[in-house]
Amino acid sequence: MANKIALVTGASDGIGLEFADILGARGYDLILVARREDKLNSIATSLTQEHGVNCTVIVADLSQPQAAQQLFQNTQSNNLRVDFLVNNAGLLHNGFFTELDINAQERMIAVNVLALTSLTHLYANDMSARKNGHILNVASLAGWMPIPNQNVYAATKSYVLSFTQALADELNAAENGVVVSALCPGYTATKMMDNPDQGAKLNIAPNMMMSAKEVAEQGIRDCLSGKMTIVPGMANKFTAAITHIFSKTRLTKLVGSFYRKNMG
Ligand SMILES: NC(=O)c1ccc[n+]([C@@H]2O[C@H](COP(=O)([O-])OP(=O)(O)OC[C@H]3O[C@@H](n4cnc5c(N)ncnc54)[C@H](OP(=O)(O)O)[C@@H]3O)[C@@H](O)[C@H]2O)c1
Repeated sequence: MANKIALVTGASDGIGLEFADILGARGYDLILVARREDKLNSIATSLTQEHGVNCTVIVADLSQPQAAQQLFQNTQSNNLRVDFLVNNAGLLHNGFFTELDINAQERMIAVNVLALTSLTHLYANDMSARKNGHILNVASLAGWMPIPNQNVYAATKSYVLSFTQALADELNAAENGVVVSALCPGYTATKMMDNPDQGAKLNIAPNMMMSAKEVAEQGIRDCLSGKMTIVPGMANKFTAAITHIFSKTRLTKLVGSFYRKNMG
């Protein structure tokens, strides 16, 4: 029997690379999507050697209009039926809103929100027709609160969380066999935590970060078991819980003061 197929966006680095490795180890053939072709090709070679699965590389800039539709068409025309979609590609911009480049903020919304929504729509329809499939949307703990100096990013992740939870309930009620989960990592040790392209740096102690591998493992395991909302790690679960204790106004002030103190 042919292997199942998993498509991972943002598979060239960080948490996405770990998703690909874990899904390959579970025997999924892989479709690796990101912008850096060389990086994807070398990852494909090593995952094929390590896990004996087929890897297809698709280079896509998901900030471009119609990128999601072209990606879907590409997989359809190559007869690649996706069983597990991981909408992981995402980017961050830190800093004072009025000083940040608005074009970069728009590209962030395009990747974090628009491409994720379109890919979910296209592949959820395809999976519904086959009455089987999993979709893991990578939100963030940032989606649980307004974050001054990271306000657009946090709002994109609030969208991902709210959209995914509502869709998960919708699909569950329809009993069409498609599982959708929102993964909400806290600080995770990837280049996102120290990327000069993403504006100011947030200084977070290494012991406050989870590894990308731990985050990805919990995401895949809990999505496969049908969980709607996944918050990896005890410290992150605690943070998610305390967001309910404060009013939104108080929470925003507390978070704003933390970010102003720790952003370089
Ligand atoms: N690290 C954290 O602390 C943290 C916490 C919570 C949530 N998250 C979320 O986790 C996800 C992965 O983040 P990460 O920390 O692993 O970040 P990362 O190490 O910076 O990796 C980001 C990935 O997204 C891809 N990507 C970026 N822009 C893209 C575009 N326009 N089109 C296609 N692919 C694009 C990058 O590949 P190319 O550059 O090759 O295109 C890369 O593979 C994101 O959604 C992020 O918001 C991260």
